[in-house]
Amino acid sequence: MNNKLLITVLALCSTMMLSAQETVSVFLYSPGPGDGLHVAVQEGEAWKEAGRLCSSDYGTWGAEKKMFHPSVCRAQDGTWRLVFQVNDRAPLFAAAYSRDLVNWRPQDYPIMSTAQCLEPVVFPNPDGTFDVYYKSPQGKRWTSATPNFRHFSPDLASQISDDAWVRDTATIAGRLFEGNGFEISSMEWVKIEQHFRKSGEEWRKTNERMHDDANNANMPKSPIKATLAVDMTRQKAISDKLIGIFFEDISYAADGGLYAELIQNRDFEYTPKDHGGWTSTTAWHSARPIEIATENPLSMNNPHYALLWTDTLWNEGWDGIVVEKGKKYDFSMYVQAGGQKQDFSIELIGQDGKVLAKSKLKTKAGSWQQYATVLTAKAGDTKARLAIVPLKAAHVGVDMISLFPQETFMNRKNGLRKDLAQVIADLHPKFVRFPGGCMSHGQGLENIYHWNHTVGPLQDRKPDFNIWHYHQTRGLGFYEFFQFCEDIGAEPLPVLAAGVPCQNSANNAQGIGGQQGGIPMDEMPAYVQEILDLIEWANGDPATSKWAKMRADAGHPAPFNLKYIGLGNEDIISTVFEERYEMLARAIRAKYPDIKICGTAGPFHAPSADYQEGWDFSRRHPDLQYMLDEHYYESTGWFMHNRHYYDDYDRNGAKVYLGEWAASTKVKRPNIETALAEALYLTDIERNGDVVEMTSYAPMLSKDGHSNWNPDMIYFSNTDVRITPAYEVQRLFSVYGGDTYVTSQLTMDNSQFAHRVGASVVRNAKTGKTYLKLVNALPVELRLDVTGIDIPATAETEGFAGKPEEQRLTITKGEAGTSMVLPPYSLRVIKL
Ligand code: AHR
Repeated sequence: MNNKLLITVLALCSTMMLSAQETVSVFLYSPGPGDGLHVAVQEGEAWKEAGRLCSSDYGTWGAEKKMFHPSVCRAQDGTWRLVFQVNDRAPLFAAAYSRDLVNWRPQDYPIMSTAQCLEPVVFPNPDGTFDVYYKSPQGKRWTSATPNFRHFSPDLASQISDDAWVRDTATIAGRLFEGNGFEISSMEWVKIEQHFRKSGEEWRKTNERMHDDANNANMPKSPIKATLAVDMTRQKAISDKLIGIFFEDISYAADGGLYAELIQNRDFEYTPKDHGGWTSTTAWHSARPIEIATENPLSMNNPHYALLWTDTLWNEGWDGIVVEKGKKYDFSMYVQAGGQKQDFSIELIGQDGKVLAKSKLKTKAGSWQQYATVLTAKAGDTKARLAIVPLKAAHVGVDMISLFPQETFMNRKNGLRKDLAQVIADLHPKFVRFPGGCMSHGQGLENIYHWNHTVGPLQDRKPDFNIWHYHQTRGLGFYEFFQFCEDIGAEPLPVLAAGVPCQNSANNAQGIGGQQGGIPMDEMPAYVQEILDLIEWANGDPATSKWAKMRADAGHPAPFNLKYIGLGNEDIISTVFEERYEMLARAIRAKYPDIKICGTAGPFHAPSADYQEGWDFSRRHPDLQYMLDEHYYESTGWFMHNRHYYDDYDRNGAKVYLGEWAASTKVKRPNIETALAEALYLTDIERNGDVVEMTSYAPMLSKDGHSNWNPDMIYFSNTDVRITPAYEVQRLFSVYGGDTYVTSQLTMDNSQFAHRVGASVVRNAKTGKTYLKLVNALPVELRLDVTGIDIPATAETEGFAGKPEEQRLTITKGEAGTSMVLPPYSLRVIKL
């Protein structure tokens, strides 16, 4: 009996047994603060644990996301309400509701007047409203009322008696728990049981690994035959922007990475907020303590600068400075000296102390003035240092000390590291999402990314700490992002906070973590204007718009032609989020109706609470979302077993942007296994290219020794760039993408392995070619008959084959030949 049939039979049996009983006693409780809300069922006299219904989504991972004292009530209409205490520090409680105990609305965290909200309990009122009671630490009681469980009234002192806190109890697996007991109908219980059974079954499937194939008795041992019937008469238009990139300043992707600046902490603005132990002098060295001043700053946004006397000032660069023999480097710095003369020797020094390059800089600055010189390297070193050697005895201020290779990508000033940018360009991404995911919505309200802090003269840009624990100079700001998009022919897709910071934010000074109540409503009009200004800056006319003039003054009078804007990044779709999103989206729609707005469906795939509410919100507000951003990082098994994920999506609803995704194994590095799982899934994405508009693998970049996340698409150090199997899959699907999907039907001798084989046929109007992509993720050969399309033996092919655990792959090019045998674990693109 197959698994599906077994589940149905079991479900039927339990339905039959239960309908005789009509009601079932359940007990809702939490086994421990990190375990969330569970349900136990009464069997005879005993209680039996059945599974977890939901868990806390409040605050940071690790320290928070705890559920204390859950209290559940059932409304007259049969729906459920849950409140719980999140910790003993925050002036808020958590609230959520559910129709069936299985699917829960994303949690809200209403902020109350007391410093803490302890042991909240909830009661339904006959008029359909609810009252929540809680205690403050001194034992005082408080109450808040809610008509809809989304908006809660300001709290009032209450005289309610201790009876409100009397709970039911149950002994489960020998332990006594407090909770809430209910009688539910047998049909309701069957649905809950089915949910647990289905989750268990899915979990087992998603554990399937190619790496285990050799020991898996169910895997085939001899070649498999299959037929691919291509039907050239059945074609549909698909997105021509399916493959793009997601740039986030994570793992030193920007400063110290793609941004070609070679001086670390050039503005002396590092602080311990960026990273424990960092100060204004981090990465700088001198024989005596470096004097830092703030009295007469170069810019209010860059208050710190160094005072030099006669000691040499050294900068260590980003783990050293790579200097290449014969290459030229642009050095510049601002000097303030009250008119004193000072000459400097600007030097690049190798690890052995030898001078690699040297130039004299004569200065006589009154107030802040920029000086520049070019250094030409006589010799090279991979870990050089910069030395600023004062040649006279004068007391001068220095700031914004910068060194760029003259060779940057497209030789742009303030540009990007050439080798790294080129590897990205070679992907031919159709769009670039920037400046990040969590980095965009930020670590708390104060760290929300403001695009307008990142444009204009470098010294006036506002640096900030990075949620990934380092420093953002903003030298790679919105101007540079838009420029890069233009340089590589990609659509810009800026994504900005939807008025809420990251739901995993740490506590602020009031002890409020997570979304922190969102940008206060009285500050939202200014934030809305900030987003409108971005569109004006990108697309406006410099003759009539001050924002567009800024763009023109920076060197780009022509509009950037921005078409998309993202609002929010995998947020909890809380009430606080929805209200702010709506304000922002309505304002954009009213002023710039052609801009395509991309909303968010939370951090996980179906059936997570945010995913469901994100899509529900989209259906309720079809005018506010052209596209919805989904994120999921999953096991290779999950991707192999969810190949039909988008098949049933509503073709009349919002489009999908799969904005962050990657397959991983326990090794947490891209390898042939993850690449094949991604390739299989991409054949399905192409099939659904009429509803999926864009996808971007995440994260893209990771610097050796500074990684916040694995796996990534491209790893790099100061001296090398290493592409991964994930990169090659993205490149093949990007370069050989199309705009029309040709229907094909894959039939296998043994359909049990259909999830391991993928095929898709697309036509590309620009190249005039048809591309056939074939993926074999089986440990044996796939012998394929292709019908309905002529494949000349001379047709060019490109692809790879290898072992699942290999982290490097070799792309082989060839001709289709007469045999259609796909080696084990392989991908082949045939160009027709
Ligand atoms: O890609 C890394 C992180 O993953 C992003 O910042 C965030 O959006 C997601 O959780």
